[in-house]
Amino acid sequence: MKDGSATRKSAGARNKFMATKSSNKNLHKASLAKKDEFYTQLDDIEKELKHYKDQFRGKVVYCNCDDPFESNFFKYFASNFNALKLKKLIATSYVKSPIVGGQLSLFEMEGLKPEGKEPFKIEISEVSDVNSDGAVGLTDIEWLLRHDANVSSSLKDGGDFRSQECIELLKEADIVVTNPPFSLFREYLTQLIEYNKKFLIIGNVNAITYRECFKLIKDNKMWLGASIHSGDREFRVPDSYPLNAAGFRVDENGNKYIRVKGVRWFTNLDYKERHEELTLYKNYNPEEYPKYENYDAINVNKVLEIPKDYNGIIGVPITFLDKYNPEQFEIIGLGISNSGKEIGVKPYKEEHKKYRKEIQKRGAVDGDLYMITKGIVDVPYARVIIKNKKAKK
Ligand SMILES: C[S@@+](CC[C@H](N)C(=O)[O-])C[C@H]1O[C@@H](n2cnc3c(N)ncnc32)[C@H](O)[C@@H]1O
Repeated sequence: MKDGSATRKSAGARNKFMATKSSNKNLHKASLAKKDEFYTQLDDIEKELKHYKDQFRGKVVYCNCDDPFESNFFKYFASNFNALKLKKLIATSYVKSPIVGGQLSLFEMEGLKPEGKEPFKIEISEVSDVNSDGAVGLTDIEWLLRHDANVSSSLKDGGDFRSQECIELLKEADIVVTNPPFSLFREYLTQLIEYNKKFLIIGNVNAITYRECFKLIKDNKMWLGASIHSGDREFRVPDSYPLNAAGFRVDENGNKYIRVKGVRWFTNLDYKERHEELTLYKNYNPEEYPKYENYDAINVNKVLEIPKDYNGIIGVPITFLDKYNPEQFEIIGLGISNSGKEIGVKPYKEEHKKYRKEIQKRGAVDGDLYMITKGIVDVPYARVIIKNKKAKK
């Protein structure tokens, strides 16, 4: 075997999680900035929110990255204010948002949207059937906005979720629901935890590998939401979004949409399905489930193939978290780089170091798990390290 014979899997795995060169970093930054302006579709919000309806009763909901006139989160909560029996709904816009001043207008209310770039907040504490059509909905919200001067007011600090003004609103909130800017995901989540908030936010599955996020998942303080476990989702993007992006669509009104892979909800609101047991059917055998060279655990490539009778330590793909039931499994850690080292993943063995340079070029480092498969160094995709609490012989 030549020095460069680490499998193709290794490169793919690493590329997914790391941008190594500076040009890549710039591209990465630009693409993160663009992802900050992906607008969530109402249908996706409804499909997720239906799992938690009872938990919103009597609660103050805050959408803190949401221009009320552009955000389907605001639209959802405003139209369902009474059905969910909310106590209050707050939404704040952000001064630097490129769509401030009205480009997307998901929620068209002629003449109501404040002119210019000044950020603002909307606070709604009561919605009644003011137009007496027998239903409470967006037209009643429109009436409120037109007739109650207290509902909408400007923000002095720019609407940044980290500003003191927004933090005061956050303190008042029980549940925060939004699609936060992707480039600030860690900071955003850290703030929610610091203020001890319930939350339901949408983001990218790669966030799982962020240290702070993974720790919350491991400690059972955050988990993946109920409705998205695979495939891609469509988001609306501003008019300025480049047309050459993959998965692009323009509707009959000229609105632009992009399909995004790896989308997940992250939450600390409980739901029934995450306590359902995953049905396992395979038995352990050492040929099918090789051990890592540098950690005492077996490798499993498909979540459904976790052996039902193995009570030792197991490495599984991160998609395991889509099926994770904390009563059935224990999460031990994450088998990549520093997180791997923390749980005792050893550096490359002396006799395998000759392959290490090549593997490193592809992004893998000490702390990453590896196997020798048919004489070839094999670095699997990122692995969550688990134990099956209910393993039975
Ligand atoms: C991914 S978009 C989602 C918008 C909306 N929540 C939705 O789902 O349709 C994130 C939004 O956060 C805004 N934003 C960016 N940085 C922010 C910050 N520091 N504070 C508050 N909002 C911010 C962006 O301008 C953008 O409108």
